[in-house]
Formats: sequence, C-alpha cells, structure tokens
Amino acid sequence: MHESDRQPKHLSDYAAPDYLIETVDLDFHLEPERTIVHADLAMRPNPEAKAARPLVLDGEGVELISIAVDGKPLQPDEYSATETGLTVPDVPTGPFTLSLKTACNPEANEALLGLYRSNGAFCTQCEPEGFRRITFFLDRPDVLATYRVRLEADKKTNPVLLSNGNPVERGDVEGTDRHYAVWEDPHPKPSYLFAAVAGDLAKISDSFTTQSGREVALNIYVEHGKEDRCDWAMESLKNAMKWDEERFGREYDLDVFNIVAVSDFNMGAMENKGLNIFNDKLVLARPDTASDADYAAIEGVIAHEYFHNWTGNRITCRDWFQLCLKEGLTVFRDQEFSADLRAGPVKRILDVRNLKSRQFPEDSGPLAHPVRPGSYIEINNFYTATVYEKGAELCRMLQTMLGRDDFRKGLDLYFERHDGQAVTVEDFLAALADASGKDLSEFMHWYNQAGTPELACSLDYDQQSKTATLNVSQILPATPGQPNKEPMPIPLRIGLLGPNGDDLPLTLEDGTELSDGLLEVTEREQSFTFTGIPTPPTPSLLREFSAPVRLTQTIDLEQIEFLMMHDSDPFNRWQAAQSYAAKLLTDAARDRYNPEPVKGQGASRLAKALAVTANEEELAYAYRGEMLKLPSESDIARELARNIDTDAIREARETLRETIGNAIHADLAGIYEELADTGPYSPDGISAGKRSMRIAALDLLVGSGKDDELERAAAHYRGATNMTDAIYSLLILAPHDDPRRDEAMADFYERWKDDALVLDKWFAVQARSARPDSVEIVEGLLSHPKFSLKNPNRVRALIGSFANGNPTGFNRKDGAGYEFLAECALRIDKFNPHMAARLLGAFESWRFLEPNREAHAKATLEGLANAELSTDSYEIVSKTLGDE
Ligand code: TRP
Ligand code: ZN
Repeated sequence: MHESDRQPKHLSDYAAPDYLIETVDLDFHLEPERTIVHADLAMRPNPEAKAARPLVLDGEGVELISIAVDGKPLQPDEYSATETGLTVPDVPTGPFTLSLKTACNPEANEALLGLYRSNGAFCTQCEPEGFRRITFFLDRPDVLATYRVRLEADKKTNPVLLSNGNPVERGDVEGTDRHYAVWEDPHPKPSYLFAAVAGDLAKISDSFTTQSGREVALNIYVEHGKEDRCDWAMESLKNAMKWDEERFGREYDLDVFNIVAVSDFNMGAMENKGLNIFNDKLVLARPDTASDADYAAIEGVIAHEYFHNWTGNRITCRDWFQLCLKEGLTVFRDQEFSADLRAGPVKRILDVRNLKSRQFPEDSGPLAHPVRPGSYIEINNFYTATVYEKGAELCRMLQTMLGRDDFRKGLDLYFERHDGQAVTVEDFLAALADASGKDLSEFMHWYNQAGTPELACSLDYDQQSKTATLNVSQILPATPGQPNKEPMPIPLRIGLLGPNGDDLPLTLEDGTELSDGLLEVTEREQSFTFTGIPTPPTPSLLREFSAPVRLTQTIDLEQIEFLMMHDSDPFNRWQAAQSYAAKLLTDAARDRYNPEPVKGQGASRLAKALAVTANEEELAYAYRGEMLKLPSESDIARELARNIDTDAIREARETLRETIGNAIHADLAGIYEELADTGPYSPDGISAGKRSMRIAALDLLVGSGKDDELERAAAHYRGATNMTDAIYSLLILAPHDDPRRDEAMADFYERWKDDALVLDKWFAVQARSARPDSVEIVEGLLSHPKFSLKNPNRVRALIGSFANGNPTGFNRKDGAGYEFLAECALRIDKFNPHMAARLLGAFESWRFLEPNREAHAKATLEGLANAELSTDSYEIVSKTLGDE
C-alpha cells in the first residue's frame, strides 16, 4: 500500500499532460502466465504544457524488460521503473519514439483489470486505469492516439484474435504453432478504450447497413455451445444502431462491430472502440434461461455500450471527474431507446424506481457526491448511481427545459464542435446553450452540488378570485463537504385536476397558457398563480418525474386516491398508488409496529382502487402489473428516513399484502386465470406485461395467507415453460417453510447446476429470501461446491443479493448480517478490491437505523477500518464512517 494512493485527487488540480502520444504500436505475444508486450509510442512534448519536464508514465505491476528512445536502448541510470510507474528524466525536446518491452501475468490477474483470463480466453478491461497494467503509458483520457495492434498466440487454443478497429492482416507464424492478426483503429482514442481478446470462441454474425449505405459486419463471440443464446442481443444491437440514426443522427464509423461475452467481469459491459466486451449475463438469453427482466437489461445495455461510440468514444472525457459526461448522457440515451421500443410510461416508472432505490440513499448518506465530483481517492469507486442515474436525469431535465428539438440541435452542435476531443461538462452545456439560446449557467449547480433537493409544495385556493396558487420552496440538504447550496433551476411539470378528474387549462396571471404544464422553478421560494379555476382543484405535481427531487406536499389520502383513479399522467397515477400504500405502511412501521393502518379502512380502500385500475383494459398489462406491486421494504425504509426497524417494516408490508390479497381475492384470482395462456414465449412488451401482471397478482394471492394459494405458486413453478414464470414463482415460494418450496428449489438446482448464469439465480433467490435463518443459509452457501469468490457474478448473486436485496436478513437485529458482509468483503479485497469496495457500499444507510442496529453496524465498520484494506475499500469504509 502506497500512502500516496490514499491522497484525494482534485478536479481543480487538472493540468494538461506534459507529453502527447500520437500513435501506438502494440505487439502482444500472448502466453497465459507470461505475456510479452512490445510498445512503440510516437510521442512529443505537449506544446500546451510547461517544457522540459521528465517523462512520467503510469504503470501497475508491469515488469520492464527493455526500453529505448528512438531505437537507442537506455542505460539503467537513464530511467527508473517502479511498481507504479516509469520515469525518464531526459527525453528529446521534439518528437521521439519510446520503445518498451514489458511482461505481465494474465493468469494470476484476479482483479480483472488490465489483461486477464476468463474461461481460458484472454481479455482486457482498461477503464478507467487498467491499461497501465498492460504497459507503461500516459493512462489518462485526454491523451488520444491511433492504435495498430498485432496479437500473436497459440493457434489451436486461440483461433480468435480481436482488437479495436478494422482487421488488416492475419497469418501463421512460420515454423511454429502460432498465428497472428493485425488490427488498426483509425479513430484516435484514450487508452481506457483499448481492448484485446484471444481465445477459442464461437461466433454469430449478421450485418447492418447504415443510413448512408455502408455495410457493417456484426459479430457476437461467445463460449462454444452458447450460440443459441445470442439472437436477442443481435436484434437489440441492430435496433440500437437504427434508433441512434433516427433519433440522434448518429451513424456507426467502422467496418466491423464486435461484441465478446465473458463470464468473469467486474461490471456490466465495456464500450471499447469497435470491440465491446460484455459480462455474458448481459448477452446470453433463451426463453428457458433468461427472464423478461434479463431480456430488457440485455436490450438496454447492448444499446448503452453501442451509444457510447458517439457519447464517450468519438467525444470523450478530459479527466475522470467528467465521467458523467459520457455515462449520464449515455444512460439517458439508452433509457429513451427502451422507452421508444416498449411502453414508455412503464419504462419511466422502472427508471425512477431504480433511481430512488439506488441513487437517493447514496445522495442522502455519507457517500453523497456531486454528479461531477470535485475529488476522489479511487476513481473505481465513482461508477455510482449518482454519476450514472442522476447524471441521466440531468440530461433529461435539459431535454425537458429546452424541448426535444432544441436539445437535439444542441447535441448536434456538441458532436460537430468536439468530435475527436476530450472535453468537460462545461463544453457540453455550452453547446446546448449556444444552439438553443437558453442561458444554462445556473444549471451547472446540478453537476456540482450533491444531495437530493426537497421540493416542498402547497396549493392555496381562493374562492373569491377563482385562482389557485402553487407555493414552491426548494430545500437543499447539506452533504459531506457542502454545507450550503445555491438554488437550482428545476423543471416542474404539473396538472390541476377538476372535480371530474379532467385536467383544467393552466393560465398564469400574466395570461401565459401552459399547454404542457411545465413550470421552471429558479428561486428558493416561488409562487405560481393560476386563474380561472372554478373550484378547488387536485394538484398533480412533478408529472413524469420531471426532476430528481423529493416532493413533499400537504395532500390527504382522499386526494391521493382521486389521483390514483383519474390522473392523466400515467407516471403520477402510478405514483399516487405508491404514495397511498407508502402512507399506510409508514404509519404502521413508524416507531413501533402498529397494525391498524395496514388492516383498517385505508387499506381496504386502497385494495378496491387497485382492483379498479387492474381491470381497466385500456391500460397496458405491464402498467397494471406495476400498479399491483406494493412499495418494497427498502422503499418504506427510505420514506421513514430515520429510526429504521427492518422487522417492523416487513411485518407492516406482509400485513398489507395479506389485507389486499384477501380484500380483492376474487379480482386477483380472475386476473391470474385470465392471463394464464400467454402462448409461446416472446420477449415483447405485451407478452412480458401479461406475465408481469399475472405474477404481481400471484404475489398478492399468496400474501393472503390461504394455503391453497401457496399451492397455486407451487403449481405455477411446476408448470413454468419459461424462466420468468419459474424464477418469480420460486421467489414467492422461497421464504416459506414448506416442502413445496424445498422441492422447487431442489428441482431448479438439478436442472441448472451446470449452467453458470442460471445457477446464479438459484443462489440469488436464497440470498434474497427473508427468513430468520437467512444469514446462516447464505453463510452455508459460501461453502457450496459451486460457489466461488473469484467469479463476480456469483459473488453478486449470493453476497450482493443478500446485502442489497434482503433488508431483514442483512439488518438482522443481532448484527450477524453486517459481520457476514464484512468478512466476505475482507476476503475479496485481497484480490479484487473493486468488487470488495462495491459490496461495502451496502453500509451506506447505517446512520438511519434504529439505535441497536446502528450500533452493530458501527462496530462492524470500525472493525473494517482497523483491518488491512485496499485503497478502494479504505475510501468507502472511511467515508461511510465519516471520520475523515
Ligand atoms: N464504461 C462502462 C459502462 O458503460 C463501465 C465499466 C465497465 C467499468 N467495466 C468497468 C468501470 C470496470 C470500471 C471498471 O458502463
Ligand atoms: Zn456507460
């Protein structure tokens, strides 16, 4: 551990690189345990930087074999190579070529960064700072070079040799068992977009003709035997290519687009230029192995990585503080893609649910940071929900405020102005401002200020003047290092419902007609008065979730029920149902469990309203399915905000589930029967919607507590002909002590024990299942012969699902869940710090727990702080404890 690694880096310290690299020539001699890399770097001093500095290259665990400048070998006293870099004090003042010969050990690489092995193949992961594990380099995103890559390897075990760009040459190495391939990427790129793959992989091919008539070869490489699981990924890729042309005018720019699926991958996928590398979980799908949610995730992530070709690759980030520049914008683009392909409002509901469940806690806890952070210790820790999901919301707000057309014009200008450059968030906003004529200077606060703003609203009605006044104040909570904040521009979309549930025309005092219901809040306190309102209206605020804020308002249950039945905005109609349930649930779980709210009058009214919407046939199945889902235990915890007792929350939710399951039993059973025949499996939105709605009904039916309903779930499992039906019925059965649960679990295991991705689901179902002995069950599974700490997907399936998907188990009263997570993280931290640090993120809300659990969590965190930790885990633990 180098103490200097633990010093924070600051955005304000940015300085242009001292040297530039124009071209990179790499020659890989691939061997599992000792790969030799020859690098020829055409360099020159950066005219923008101060001259005559030593050349300092990044490196990590790379062994230097030889070094030469302009072909002349350097003597040992002319350079110094260490574990973290290479320094050459004296280099030419003009252009020169630096030649390096280095070695690394892919087989021993368990951090899965740089060049490593997955299932016998070579692959790479260079974002953000992995390239320095392959060779010494200026491993920063503002050094852009063109690459020529030669890969040489044993031909029999590595028939496939891939790198970025276009293939230019291949052949055998005479007199050996080896062969080689040469790839050239004409587009200058930073090192984090470099990729290479070698191995024995199967290939599925197709092609796409761009809008200008160029044909692009499309290939997906997977393990042999998995070829029949690639169709959906290929179809998604073609849809994404077409959509980006139509919606944003973006065309692909190489002759080939390759995707490789690997089974050992730290994250979801990686947008390397022309050679995307994927966690195979986000490529492989067959009706019997992948659920509807898996299909949707594959569609979204294939599109996400493809969209990076313009937002990230052609235009990249100046430094890692600007990560949201590519990630927020690209998430926004993939969300819009999926919304256009499927039922739009449902996609919005899912995205907002994801934002609230993952980003809101981050933003209100000790790890809160701005969408563009001002400092970090380890950049790997900043691939967060804030950078990605809130970053996407900022782009969405910009589109809302500018309007679709001007937003598109702004993006066009951004692409035109900055193609081939490494830029900043300021450059992005300047393009949008210049193209639209809108002043966006205040909007920068959204990028620099952490914390979820609270938007406190109240509506005053004046009978005399027939006016309604909406009073809005934005409350900006303090976050670590940011006690005071400036007000921000907030797009607030609203409607006012008249007595029959229709939207009233919105006319401001000055006569402005708000045809789209869009207000722009710019001050801390602001009022908007609407005229010509005949009777007191019901406000529908923050329609479409137009800004990532926490809306608070004085509104009673009757008004919420009214919105739930009548709101013309589908998002807010769903939100009303959630708010209604959340009100009952928080009343029941606050301080100590009180069953009245989840058993009484309010609960039966909610049940009846749910039955009415569920039977409204004009609404999409998927939408009705979402209506039938109660807020999750974590949703309720977030609403409570403090003194959280996860057992009380679960009891409240189970009781409400029981009340509803009994109150509208006949309706639910009717829905369940009516949707029984979904025909042969198809992942399309309508079929998936039917399955989702049917399973939501099943969940409430089983929640009723009647024994024949558990039998219904068991039968659902036994009759399942696709993974969606199988896995959700298994999830519903999992918490029950019942032989039918054990049978289903054993059956699933027997059927899928040799299929890694499906077996992950078997681990995850058990980890998520709320039982008094969850900790022991999960602990026991650690020693299951099929479990391995070295595979990230399996770790996430078991340990991640437990920590993030099983609130009662993880937060068990005696603190055993916390201790378990800490022990696992410590073991993983020894070889894969990136993974360990991500798992430790599960402690982020510890301060909101009731005192007893809070004390246990604190003790566990203090234990971790005293252990030997990687820089990654150190940053998370120390910030989570807040003793920095
Ligand atoms: N850029 C990747 C994306 O689009 C993120 C990513 C993939 C990543 N693998 C990684 C980030 C490894 C850090 C480390 O989402
Ligand atoms: Zn991304």
